[in-house]
Amino acid sequence: MNRFSKLMVLALVAVLAFAGVFHTARAQEKKLTIFLGSVGDLVPDQEIVDRWGKEKGVTVEFVYAPQSATDVLAVIQQFLAAKSSDVDLIQFDTIWPGILAPNMLDLAPYVESMKVDTSAFYPRLYENNIVDGKVVGLPWFTDAGLLYYRTDLLEKYGYTAAPKTWDELAEMAKKIQDGERAETGNNDFYGFVFQANAYEGLTCDALEWQFSNGGGSIVEADKTISVNNDATIKALERAKSWIGSIAPEGVTTYQEEDARRVFQAGNAAFMRNWPYAYVLGQGGADGKTETAIKDKFNVAPLPAGDAGYGAAALGGWQIGVSAYTKEPDLAAELALYLTSSDVQKERALKLSNLPTIKALYTDSEIAEKIPFIAELVPVFENASPRPSTVTASKYNDVSVAYFTAVHDVLTGKTDAATAMEDLEAKLEDLLGSDFKIGAPPGM
Ligand code: GLC
Repeated sequence: MNRFSKLMVLALVAVLAFAGVFHTARAQEKKLTIFLGSVGDLVPDQEIVDRWGKEKGVTVEFVYAPQSATDVLAVIQQFLAAKSSDVDLIQFDTIWPGILAPNMLDLAPYVESMKVDTSAFYPRLYENNIVDGKVVGLPWFTDAGLLYYRTDLLEKYGYTAAPKTWDELAEMAKKIQDGERAETGNNDFYGFVFQANAYEGLTCDALEWQFSNGGGSIVEADKTISVNNDATIKALERAKSWIGSIAPEGVTTYQEEDARRVFQAGNAAFMRNWPYAYVLGQGGADGKTETAIKDKFNVAPLPAGDAGYGAAALGGWQIGVSAYTKEPDLAAELALYLTSSDVQKERALKLSNLPTIKALYTDSEIAEKIPFIAELVPVFENASPRPSTVTASKYNDVSVAYFTAVHDVLTGKTDAATAMEDLEAKLEDLLGSDFKIGAPPGM
């Protein structure tokens, strides 16, 4: 062997040895994959998860969900049906525990062994995740529909407070829209934007219109199919009247982020959205991004309908672990970490996401930076749930039928009375003989 060949062999041995060491190190390094939501600012959650990963010597990979909750469910159901171990942790919506339960890991043993104080959570948010005794997930953040309004424009047009009723909102929205368009020539300025695409978000918005009108909750907790009633029909007719007058025609394609973009660009007087839009409007997690509405907006409870009270749809997301994970202990540890008080506080401050831990609503730092969180506690505590507990594994079918019917009304495909009559028949078919047609409570 000449010198050159000897050198080559030595080099090869060195490379192989290095690769071997490297390979062993890699094999020892644990990896988790987390399926996270994708609405709003994604950076703070990446930082939180990466921090945990570094401390534990775990690489955490992110898989981002589609924006529409309806699509998110379809993706989750796909990888759970395939019993795929590619995803370990799953962020899932408050309405899905009954649908996902069979394919999720029971977190109860971990909650116990790691001594999680479950009494610190709002009981209804924690209990919503218990399906037949199984702890399917832990509540990460809660959500409630809010009315965003431009404080500067209300003042400019002589209003001293946010609207108290839907009719008042429509009147104010029209006056501000007409005034701004005339003054600036900006015909892309609208009175009111919200979520009216055919997806889960529309179920939330429409439930708020109908519940605040006295129209009930679509399907009541006692298994009454109550959606076909005059109050709901009137609420939908009212919403239909906004399309193309105070709201863009295109609102029937809007999801949360579409509405936020319009409002944040300064092109709407009012917006219905979830709490996450607050920090973004104020310049993001570090407050440094310039926005057209910084310090020019506030949030209020959604207006009342004919029932004399307003309603906020109850939303929110949980962290759970797939039953098919190969790292159940590690994944459960990360789920517990993400739902801990410290992380929830950080997320409240950086993302204006509502904590699920009651004590954080009196935290002075949160109250100072995001005042509405402490101020609107009754709105969050009384938020109206969608009928996901009573319809359990059938909830998504119920919601699809409902938002499709509502969308058909808003786009003028059919009138509200016909749509609700057809929907009632569809729900009766779908839910079976345990369920009966009837009136909502109080009607
Ligand atoms: C928000 C809510 C969630 C709801 C969704 C609808 O993400 O937290 O519960 O289903 O909006 O778009």
